[in-house]
Amino acid sequence: MSKKISRITLYYVISTFIAGLILLLYITFKYKNFSILGFLYFGVLILLADIFEAPLIKGGKVSVLGGLELACLFIYGPTTASWVMLVTLFNIREWFEKTPWYKFMFNVSQLLISIGLSGIIYKSINPTRQIGAIRIDSNHLLAILLSSVVFFIANTLLTAGVIGVSEKINFFSLWIYSYLWLIPFHLILTALAVLVAYLHQTYGSVTLLLTIIPLILTQYVYFLRIREKQALLQNVINLVRVIEAKDKYTAGHSMRVTEYAEKVARKLRLSEFEIELLKNAAYLHDIGKIRTDLSILKKPKKLRLDEWDQIKEHPTIGYEIVSDIRLQKSVSLAILYHHEKYDGSGYPGKLEKDKIPLFARILCVVDSFDAMVTTREYKRTFTMEKAAQELRKEAGTHFDPQITNIFCKILEKEYNVIGAYKPEEIIAGEEIIKNVNINRDRLENFKEETWKKIISLQKKKKK
Ligand SMILES: [Fe+2]
Repeated sequence: MSKKISRITLYYVISTFIAGLILLLYITFKYKNFSILGFLYFGVLILLADIFEAPLIKGGKVSVLGGLELACLFIYGPTTASWVMLVTLFNIREWFEKTPWYKFMFNVSQLLISIGLSGIIYKSINPTRQIGAIRIDSNHLLAILLSSVVFFIANTLLTAGVIGVSEKINFFSLWIYSYLWLIPFHLILTALAVLVAYLHQTYGSVTLLLTIIPLILTQYVYFLRIREKQALLQNVINLVRVIEAKDKYTAGHSMRVTEYAEKVARKLRLSEFEIELLKNAAYLHDIGKIRTDLSILKKPKKLRLDEWDQIKEHPTIGYEIVSDIRLQKSVSLAILYHHEKYDGSGYPGKLEKDKIPLFARILCVVDSFDAMVTTREYKRTFTMEKAAQELRKEAGTHFDPQITNIFCKILEKEYNVIGAYKPEEIIAGEEIIKNVNINRDRLENFKEETWKKIISLQKKKKK
């Protein structure tokens, strides 16, 4: 959710909050049985799990919170499990990070709804069951399984919903791509919740600490690792910005390329995970220029051939740099191939058509567009309209026609570039989204021969 909240997002958050409160009151009056001890035990544990939840690049968060909530439900029943959710309001990490109030409000509301619905299902399948007793029979297993599934679906759908509404993206595809893969993780948490409840029933409350604290510690170590990796990536991105800022012509280039690339990726319905990777590749696509002579990069006149040769090495250098910081393969490949041309006349690998990874084809279009509209003293600057015309003219030779088509449509609709979208001018531009899945597979199917080909081409050139 962005810091500035739109009216529709606000309505969504308020409705979720009201629904969460109604459900909390309904459950309290219907099932009663509030346990102060359970509230205190799980209150502390859930708060710790919430503070140290680790964000994932795929869009979800790793947290044992879901498992703890279910364990609390199985041991103390829906009333205690629902009231315990309110402790997440005291997540001090979010306070320090100045999380907006509506995020707090939404988080607690969606947890109240998820655990509330899950509790109703659990109790309706197992109506006479005594609080805290775990039985191994089909009825109880069904109650556990269904309440867990309902918890997962409600929790992830509500979260995908708020992201969909605030970011104006299709929430269902966001849910499919960003949350469905978490199902096995959630099922393991459910099994752990049953184990925690069973041990609690057999050996008493002290087992809660012995079973749950190691889980939270594991999560904390993971949280630190993710933080470290994010900090490293952010440092590299900041470095690129500093380098760009030194040259008034390139200042902001990687930011704009990232913005365009994300828009294309959303039209292609890539998953949030892939979009995140593509954005990293876009931020870093020219990082190899770190090793190019500044005098060449800032040269106000037309470049000599040998100077061009030096510039042309930046994708390979960039690839080596990001390989050293162990980013995903698809990110490093996008950096390596962002100057390949669709007809195979680009560099460094002379790859053609869909042998060029999808991310690199996207970057190629949006990077070239931004370069065309950026002023250089020795170069004629294009207006956005003229640059779009150039893209269309070279679709099928320089650029992937499908991506060019999509990008021109974005330029016309979202950047008011009148006349940018003229599909009839683009050769073979009609098979847009249907081939993306096939092409996307190639992202990970990088063959070592391609790399060898690049090295041999570079050696030949040096001779
Ligand atoms: Fe580049």
